[in-house]
Formats: sequence, C-alpha cells, structure tokens
Amino acid sequence: MARITAGVASSHVPLLGVASDQGKDRDDYFGPIFAGYDWTREWIAKPENKPDVVILVYNDHASAFDMSIIPTFAIGCGERYAPADEGWGPRKVPDVEGHPDLAWHIAQSLILDEFDMTIINEMDVDHGLTVPLTMMYDKPDAWPVKVIPLAVNVVTYPPPSGNRCWALGEAIARAVNSFGEDLNVQIWGTGGMSHQLQGQRAGLINAEWDNMFLDKLIGDTQDLRHVPHIEYLRETGSEGIEMVMWLIMRGALGKSTKCLHRHYHVPCSNTAIGHIVLEPVDGSVPPSPTLEGNNEAAQAAI
Ligand code: DHB
Ligand code: FE
Repeated sequence: MARITAGVASSHVPLLGVASDQGKDRDDYFGPIFAGYDWTREWIAKPENKPDVVILVYNDHASAFDMSIIPTFAIGCGERYAPADEGWGPRKVPDVEGHPDLAWHIAQSLILDEFDMTIINEMDVDHGLTVPLTMMYDKPDAWPVKVIPLAVNVVTYPPPSGNRCWALGEAIARAVNSFGEDLNVQIWGTGGMSHQLQGQRAGLINAEWDNMFLDKLIGDTQDLRHVPHIEYLRETGSEGIEMVMWLIMRGALGKSTKCLHRHYHVPCSNTAIGHIVLEPVDGSVPPSPTLEGNNEAAQAAI
C-alpha cells in the first residue's frame, strides 16, 4: 500500500534557483540559506527515507495559468512537465517526471470525496515547483523522484481558506492510503513565508509570526486551520498567503507530527526562508462522510 511517510515545507524564492544555476549557492549571502538544507539533502538520500513520489503542493505565478483560467486546486496527471520560461528562458534543470497512475487515482478519490479538482495533463512548471526541488536535491542530471504537481491559486483573490486546505490534505491522505502499490510518498508544502512584493509595505518580513506558524505545524494543534486571510495579509504581507499551501501538507500528515528538522533565515530576496521536515506520529485522518458511498456508486456504474 502507498503511504505518506513525511511532510516537507520550503519557501520557493526564485533568486535561489538563480543562485544555484550560477554556482553562487555557497557564497556569503546564499551560503547560510542553502546550509539549512544540507540536513535534508542527506536525510532524503538515505534509502529508508527516499520517496518514490512527491505530491508537490505549489503555486503557479502566471506561467501555466493567468487571468484566462484560475483553478483553485489543480492536480497534474501528466507524464512530464518542462520548466517554464519566466521571462529569461527556462531554467536549465531537468524535466519533472509525473506519476500518472497515482495522480489519476488521487484525482478520482478527491473528486468522489467532493473536492472539485481541475485535472491538468499538460503544463510547464515555474519556480514555485522547481526551486523546492533544487533546494532538496541540488543539481542532479535527472530529478530522483516522481512528482505529482498540485497547484493552488494563491495569486488571485480569493484563495482557498486554510481550513479547506487542511481538509484537502486529509483527503489526499485517504487517497494515497487506498492506492494498492507499495510506494513511499512524501507531501511537500511550498511557498511563503512572510513577504510582500509590491506597494507601500514591500519588503515586509515578520519573523515572529513566521516562527509561530512553524511552531504550530508541529504536534497536534489544529489552530492554523482557523487563521483567516486577513491575518495573513496584515501580519505576513500580500504574498504571505502562500503559506496556506503548507496546511495541505500538514493536513495530510494526520493528527500529530514530530519535527525532524527546521530552518529559518532572513533575509532572502524580499522574504524569509522557512523550511521544516515533519514526520507523522499519529497519521490518522478523519474518515470522509461521502467517499466510500461515492466509490461504491461509481464502481457499480462501471
Ligand atoms: C519572491 C518570492 C516569491 O514567493 C515569489 O514568487 C517571487 C519572488 C522574492 O522574495 O523575491
Ligand atoms: Fe511566490
């Protein structure tokens, strides 16, 4: 059976992709940022931790989607995804290989669980997805893991609520647990932390709030699911709302978590770097009120 064995969260600052691509990742400015990922790079390379598949929760920044189409939640069911051209040519990093069988299974399970996912078979992926891969895996010839992209709209108002994101995470865990093949699956939550890229408060960083958020991802509190959008906006700037994506990761880890590794550094470009590795302690998630019945009905109809 497939199992979610760990959750990883990381900021996705595009400048870190540039630093890695230009070989500046160990210089005075970027060195302390990348050093916080050394522990994770070693941990994820060990055979017992190595994921077969990562469900990579991220946001697109007007690369694959724009004002013409704005899916709240979208799941990539394709075979592969190329790095997007974000204005200065695609990054020279490997294509991302998908896992269509598991992705379609998750799409079916989520939709029958009453999460109305958009299914994407073709798209390019931007820094929201490729920078976290760089932070975790450095510069391999091919990414050593299959990736199911799960895109969340956090760019155009209204993004989904934290509570809905957490509940989606729980539904993802139910979906993975019902996949027959033995697979080590990780879920990553990306984006954040506090940042505002435009307007009067551009450059805002709130280390105290960010660290409260990191604290509350650990253990069994569910406080974060009830943080309203306006609090993210006030406390963490207009782009801090990216952090709701971390709650999908946290929801998928179940009742309680243990922190294996944590890293926080300011500044990085206009934001703070946050990174945490969590292990489920009691990974139980609440049963769905509808999934089983819907699955039976679907199967009967086939
Ligand atoms: C920055 C951060 C982001 O999340 C992003 O998408 C673009 C830029 C930054 O801090 O530079
Ligand atoms: Fe971003």
